[in-house]
Amino acid sequence: MPIDSMIIASFMLFLGVLEAIGGLYHNSKRTKDDWWIEIMSFVHTSTVSKPLIVVLSGLGMRYFFPQLQGIYADMSLWLALPLVILADDLIQYWYHRKAHEWPWLWNLHRPHHSGPEMGVLVTFRENIFYVMIIPNIWFLGVMTYFGLAEAVAIGLIAKYIIVVSAHSNTRWDQWLYRHKSLDKLAWVIERTISTPATHFAHHGKTSKDGVSNPTGNFSNMFFFWDVLFGTALITRKYPSEFGIENDPKDHWSAHLYWPIIKSDKANSEIGDGYHKQKSTLREPRVMTVEPDKTYWWCSCGFSNDQPFCNGSHNGTKYKPLPIKFKETRKISWCTCKHTKNPPHCDGSHKELQ
Ligand code: FES
Repeated sequence: MPIDSMIIASFMLFLGVLEAIGGLYHNSKRTKDDWWIEIMSFVHTSTVSKPLIVVLSGLGMRYFFPQLQGIYADMSLWLALPLVILADDLIQYWYHRKAHEWPWLWNLHRPHHSGPEMGVLVTFRENIFYVMIIPNIWFLGVMTYFGLAEAVAIGLIAKYIIVVSAHSNTRWDQWLYRHKSLDKLAWVIERTISTPATHFAHHGKTSKDGVSNPTGNFSNMFFFWDVLFGTALITRKYPSEFGIENDPKDHWSAHLYWPIIKSDKANSEIGDGYHKQKSTLREPRVMTVEPDKTYWWCSCGFSNDQPFCNGSHNGTKYKPLPIKFKETRKISWCTCKHTKNPPHCDGSHKELQ
């Protein structure tokens, strides 16, 4: 086993033991399927997918670009390291973000979010095909071919120490929030790297709890990508529920091997013949609303509880729009999703073909 993989595995083991001492696995909400997904994907990713990508990218480069082998071998580590780390993490930010916006990629990424609790093993909880097409692993394979193996190895250790910690239920950032004197330091850290609070928010079940941000906080190592691209939510709180809304609890084999193995659950996104269907209407829904209650307007059109969100926006770029009213009044909710004044009907449905 390469030295970088040994360091990462030891660090995971260390945090895993702390989680066990903290009682996570004694009172675990994980089902038997969850354990299978986590153990199988960890073994598969570390022993097959990642080594295979490194070998294949090296062979491909040797075949098509033999003259580029070792081309940057003389580059200073002080220059190579930040370049490799930043490029790798930026590519992963966009790949991860698209995995929440493109339905087919979301189906591959679902296992990472279907777990009912956090922990070190969630880090590698992925469909095997999702891992095989992670572009930044191929990028690191190419960088290794260019002669930057040392920067790649050090970068991977630094990255996984942050990423595994951000998934771990040890929640190291809590001590930062407990001490008022550390407030400024916490402000900088939570905007720089992924922390348990910001990454747990990404795994939270629904944004309706005011803490979770399943349609944001996509960053892996550096959280500043979310700050930069407007997808950050920092609350310094941890969601009380993790997982996917309306989860049909698919079998572990469907999670890991979709689309080769499909789910036998009729309403599953990874089930045979499943089609996400719009439930939009051509007329507003008029309702009397109550004061000071938060309503979650569906902006994607897939909810069959129109005009409200029911969590069906998973795998799209949409998210529900929260709205509160000051007094009891009648509202004409848009249900066609073409309004220019959401969530109110502006008559746009009359212009639809
Ligand atoms: S179902 Fe949530 S935004 Fe449409």
